[in-house]
Amino acid sequence: MILWFSGNGNSRLAAERLGKLTGDSIVELTVARSDMFTAECKRIVWVFPIYSWGVPPIVLAFMRHLDFPAGVCHHMVCTCGDDIGYADRQWRAELGKRGAKCISAFSVTMPNTYVLLPGMDTDSRDVAGGKLAAAADRLKDIAAYIAGGTEEPVTDVVRGVCPWIKSRVIYPFFVKHMMSPKPFHPEDSCISCGRCVSVCPMNNIRLDDRGRPVWGDRCALCLGCYNVCPTHAVAYGRRTVGKHQYHAPESFGADD
Ligand SMILES: Cc1cc2nc3c(=O)[nH]c(=O)nc-3n(C[C@H](O)[C@H](O)[C@H](O)COP(=O)(O)O)c2cc1C
Repeated sequence: MILWFSGNGNSRLAAERLGKLTGDSIVELTVARSDMFTAECKRIVWVFPIYSWGVPPIVLAFMRHLDFPAGVCHHMVCTCGDDIGYADRQWRAELGKRGAKCISAFSVTMPNTYVLLPGMDTDSRDVAGGKLAAAADRLKDIAAYIAGGTEEPVTDVVRGVCPWIKSRVIYPFFVKHMMSPKPFHPEDSCISCGRCVSVCPMNNIRLDDRGRPVWGDRCALCLGCYNVCPTHAVAYGRRTVGKHQYHAPESFGADD
């Protein structure tokens, strides 16, 4: 079974491609339940984006609470804009606490979705297109490895520079202080189309009686609402001023 979490569609695309190539069923993590794991389930593939060089807290919560069958093999396929630090070690450690058999960990570079810090923005059209094409090929190789059923451990990830500082110092700070939904608000250009509401994987956004989005407190900070808005009307304080948007296409293209 492939369990996926995605705010902007990259990890959903990755999960769908893996599902198609391996034949495994795919389930969105936010609706996954322990009774979905049948006796035939031999492996679980966790597909999710990297947040600040770590595993998104919402994914960690499911890793802690889902009751998966003993003896299944676990694989991680994370998507990232650039690099993942030691997120694979965090994933292995978290599942390891429950005695799970963690076999492989892969990272797949895809278009960047994070824009909330100075100097960070989405990729140009060309860069994003190149990343998507390379990701489609890489996922084919990853699917072949997973479908092969080997239990030989593999770690094939891009760590980037200073992974320890990124994952062990910046990640905890980010989770504690930089994931609040409070700065989200609609600009006057909001057209009340409700796309932010429907894209939110946490069901955390509603339209008020004037048709303007209101954020609740279950935010995963995935930025799906920001990136999907057709009028660039979703703002996060002033941090989104001058920034660009990216949302994944429906599919990788011709062979998908
Ligand atoms: C809150 C947040 C933090 C992020 N942190 C990182 C990071 O540390 N390293 C990285 O390469 N990409 C980072 N990204 C980019 C995403 O991991 C990447 O674009 C991913 O493919 C998005 O997946 P999705 O479309 O399934 O949401 C971050 C994105 C968000 C929203």
